[in-house]
Amino acid sequence: MSHHILNYFGQINGAFIHARGRAATLKIIELLDCKPDESILELGFGTGATLTYLSSVYKDTSFTGYDASPVMFDAAVKRLKFCSADKNVKLKLIQPGQIFHDHSNSFDKIFAESVLAIQEDEQLKDVLVDLKRLLKHNGELIFNETIWLDSVSKEEAEKINLECKKAFRIIQANAKYTHLSNWTSLLKELGFEVELVFHANSLKNQRFVYPGSWQVFLSELLTVQGKFKAVFSPKLTKEWKKFTHDMSQIIPPGRQLMEGIIIKARNVKNDV
Ligand SMILES: C[S@@+](CC[C@H](N)C(=O)[O-])C[C@H]1O[C@@H](n2cnc3c(N)ncnc32)[C@H](O)[C@@H]1O
Repeated sequence: MSHHILNYFGQINGAFIHARGRAATLKIIELLDCKPDESILELGFGTGATLTYLSSVYKDTSFTGYDASPVMFDAAVKRLKFCSADKNVKLKLIQPGQIFHDHSNSFDKIFAESVLAIQEDEQLKDVLVDLKRLLKHNGELIFNETIWLDSVSKEEAEKINLECKKAFRIIQANAKYTHLSNWTSLLKELGFEVELVFHANSLKNQRFVYPGSWQVFLSELLTVQGKFKAVFSPKLTKEWKKFTHDMSQIIPPGRQLMEGIIIKARNVKNDV
């Protein structure tokens, strides 16, 4: 059986595993515009790089993270501890698809980076319904997801997803809600008002302005250490070679089928 690609990234402390990487995270942080005393949730925190940035800069804001992967959870706990960025962050390991009963109306803002699009079929809608319930009225949902271009048909997206599931144990991007217009319609149907649609590609070549904190510096060190591990561990190098080989068979290099979209939506209706 193939290995889970997310376990690979967990083992190497992979950070910013989403379209336009760190630049897109800085855009998400700008949109979050964290305020003291706000409660903010990250769904799918991965190895915790974004939460480390946030918690070390916004010390009076409370952050919560949910992730469904034990490998990612352990990596994030270690990163936040190593960076002394864990004071205002609560991390929770959840079951995939778990309904978050106990936290209705408790977050001012919720964000996700490369988490929603990898939910399969109607799971995407189910997760959004859950997130809406967790959000306060007028709360904001902000995400960066890589989704299919309009030029890709639903059938082609489904075929690629099937192959990706076999090779990497996750799909490439939800095919039930294939295109950007399906995503915005779904958000509206669920009672969100879409306030911003931003194409992550426009961040190409943008210079980073790093949050100036020693915790962020330590976090970057940890990410670099993971890159060394990826290069010097024969097992991890072999795994990565297999992933890239399989990917080139599924999507021929140079063919662009997807793009990163950043969306900010407001929870405007109490019930849907
Ligand atoms: C592609 S990684 C992105 C990690 C991180 N957000 C980043 O951009 O670096 C997706 C993450 O979402 C988590 N995830 C996927 N589906 C989830 C779900 N339904 N509930 C909680 N976490 C989930 C995975 O375990 C993984 O850590």
